[in-house]
Amino acid sequence: MSHEVRAVVAGAEGAAVSIENIIVPDPGPGEALIRVQACGVCHTDLHYRQGAITDDFPFLLGHEAAGIVEATGEGVTGLDPGDFVVLAWRAPCGACRACRRGRPWYCFGSLNAAQRMTLADGTALSPALGIGAFSELTLVAAGQAIPVSREAKPEPAGLIGCGIMAGLGAALYTGEVKRGDTVAVFGCGGVGDAAIQGAKLAGARRIIGVDVNPRKLKWAEEFGATDVVDASEGDPVEAIRALTGGFGVDVAIEAVGHPEVMKQAFFARDLAGTLVQVGVPDPTMTVELPMTEFFGRGGALKPSWYGDCLPSRDFPMMIDMYLSGDLDLDRFVSETISLDEVEDAFHKMESGDVLRSVVVI
Ligand SMILES: NC(=O)c1ccc[n+]([C@@H]2O[C@H](COP(=O)([O-])OP(=O)(O)OC[C@H]3O[C@@H](n4cnc5c(N)ncnc54)[C@H](O)[C@@H]3O)[C@@H](O)[C@H]2O)c1
Ligand SMILES: [Zn+2]
Ligand SMILES: [Zn+2]
Repeated sequence: MSHEVRAVVAGAEGAAVSIENIIVPDPGPGEALIRVQACGVCHTDLHYRQGAITDDFPFLLGHEAAGIVEATGEGVTGLDPGDFVVLAWRAPCGACRACRRGRPWYCFGSLNAAQRMTLADGTALSPALGIGAFSELTLVAAGQAIPVSREAKPEPAGLIGCGIMAGLGAALYTGEVKRGDTVAVFGCGGVGDAAIQGAKLAGARRIIGVDVNPRKLKWAEEFGATDVVDASEGDPVEAIRALTGGFGVDVAIEAVGHPEVMKQAFFARDLAGTLVQVGVPDPTMTVELPMTEFFGRGGALKPSWYGDCLPSRDFPMMIDMYLSGDLDLDRFVSETISLDEVEDAFHKMESGDVLRSVVVI
């Protein structure tokens, strides 16, 4: 059997998204059908709609979601109908060379549903990050559905599924921020503010938020930035050096996705410092650096996919930390909207009016 439900589809490069009736199959072997309750609007959805990730249109957007397991397919264990889950775009395969070497957070063969969701006319949809959750129902690999405490509300809980985990993990896992470190976070959107919280959890002594929007800088302070720098008012590298005794930071996190900002983050490091690249570039972007600076400064340049997280380990832990008050997820939810308002939410994101608009279904 299959189900016809309403969903948000990006049909062509740069075009406004539309609401379409889509067909979601019942789960086959290893799959799970999820009734989506809430799904955040992430900048990566906008990158998809712009054609900046791939050109596999039409895309079924939405990937920061929480919901209830409606049904599971043959052979699924450890996941039952009625479970409250956060959806993950990393479901380690257990068989690739990363998994076999005990590093499943790098899994190179992450699992997705084998069956395709389609438009009513049978056109196959490409679900954003293998999820596609701006939809009443979605079909995923069972390993993508991570059970978490049902005490958490779906709106904040779903955010752990992408941007917030990516930011937390950029600081905690990729950047390995240590107690007493100095940290700069470039771009204080949802991802950057989560990186600020991650740095705070790790015990950083100084956390510098950098943005071009004063409202974002105010929110960054509320999340734990000890200092903020408005990059539209001068060179942020100079400002960061001035705040760190002339040296720069131990860990600089780029959460914008822009070559100039990546260069700023590179030069804002102290010697032996780490640059973490979280912002997603588009295919036209290149970065040129003097090789003597790359070599002479030492340290590490590390791209961070999903904060190098392991969803089955990290999602329940982060939700528990949220419930105990150690992690603020509610502050990320700027507004709740309906499926019909996703296009408006993209504009609000671009104008900097929101941290996260969350679709409630
Ligand atoms: N690596 C991953 O796994 C992963 C996961 C989720 C999102 N992302 C990416 O992270 C980036 C941030 O996502 P988001 O949802 O927080 O986006 P967002 O739009 O909410 O935030 C981006 C922030 O960057 C600021 N900004 C823009 N230009 C700037 C500049 N020159 N200097 C400093 N700040 C500047 C904006 O004002 C905004 O506050 C996006 O590129 C997104 O695709 C990556
Ligand atoms: Zn694997
Ligand atoms: Zn995302």
